[in-house]
Amino acid sequence: MSRSSLFTPVELGALRLSNRIVMAPLTRARADVNHVPTAMMAEYYAQRADCGLIISEATAVDPQGMGWYRAPGIWNEDMVTGWRVVTDAVHQSGGQILAQLWHMGRLVLPDYLDGRLPMGPSPIAGEGETFAPRPAGDDSLFLPMKPYVVPREMTQDDIDKVVSAYGRAAANALSAGFDGVEIHGANGYIIDQFLQSKTNHRTDNYGGPLGNRLRLLSEIVAAVTEVIEPGRVGLRISPTSERKGMGDEDPGTLAQAIGELCSTFGLAYVHLIEPIASGFMEKPANPVMERLRASYDGAVIQNGSFDGDTAAAFIDGKQADAISFGRPYIANPDLVRRFADELPLATPNFDYAYVGDETGYTDYPTWR
Ligand SMILES: Cc1cc2nc3c(=O)[nH]c(=O)nc-3n(C[C@H](O)[C@H](O)[C@H](O)COP(=O)(O)O)c2cc1C
Repeated sequence: MSRSSLFTPVELGALRLSNRIVMAPLTRARADVNHVPTAMMAEYYAQRADCGLIISEATAVDPQGMGWYRAPGIWNEDMVTGWRVVTDAVHQSGGQILAQLWHMGRLVLPDYLDGRLPMGPSPIAGEGETFAPRPAGDDSLFLPMKPYVVPREMTQDDIDKVVSAYGRAAANALSAGFDGVEIHGANGYIIDQFLQSKTNHRTDNYGGPLGNRLRLLSEIVAAVTEVIEPGRVGLRISPTSERKGMGDEDPGTLAQAIGELCSTFGLAYVHLIEPIASGFMEKPANPVMERLRASYDGAVIQNGSFDGDTAAAFIDGKQADAISFGRPYIANPDLVRRFADELPLATPNFDYAYVGDETGYTDYPTWR
């Protein structure tokens, strides 16, 4: 089948993409131990700069929301300086890059918070376990794993501080040379924790009816679009994902309401994670894509287990404006060319997905 539609330009708000292949955000944990971006990150992103748009790995807006060993942040000057090297490298290679703004909420282990509890909408722990920081003197490849803990319930003051942190992080992203930002509202992190009914049991203005559960997102979008034009701001969501103990009583209505909110603010795009094939994530029983498309008048980036053919079919069928690829980008820096020339894809070594340095990161070759 023809994949030609993947290689046509498209506008997402004020962003002009030369093709419809987007690099999905991928946490790779190659910042330094103080969460400052490194030179190898600049090389890695520059290698992939011929896609239409790069979304950076999740980048913490605030130390309270950071619970990942060697993931980057964007709350201080050193981080802005580190990111500037990355964005310069991407721009010199002809690409463009958005910062994915992230706060982990209840999913931060106390190990990252000097023993303090993380915070979330309600005192309900995430399901499963996550990477703890590397103990001093440990030089094994893999990080220890620990279960998520019951967070403390956020106060109004906590909520106000998170909203302000997103606004400051957006300003820092501009200073660091990013072309815009993507607000991370997916995958069970703080915004998703407020949106979904299973994790938000609040009885104040931020919980209960859907309009209340949308309030944190709405305040964050308002804070971010005060500093960055809405046409350079996107939102990532995963309303049907039940990973890490997530769940919503009515994901379709949630997706529709999010679409309406994004239309009101005039955002550049919504980035929907909804796998159409099995693999990293399970296929949802009742996909919400149609509800989102019907309620939202902007562009949609679709994500989840796509390959070159299924991506082109989605574009041809007007089900999405662009498609993002996550795992394929780990081992295929030249993914655009491999799709164009229908070349085989290299297989990633997942041992190095979240740990290590150059090995399994910047050393994947382009097609011979
Ligand atoms: C190693 C790895 C790191 C990821 N990090 C992030 C992240 O930082 N932010 C995010 O929104 N999604 C993250 N994801 C999810 C991907 O962006 C994407 O949604 C997922 O891999 C499914 O797309 P794919 O089938 O093209 O891989 C990550 C996935 C993987 C495999």
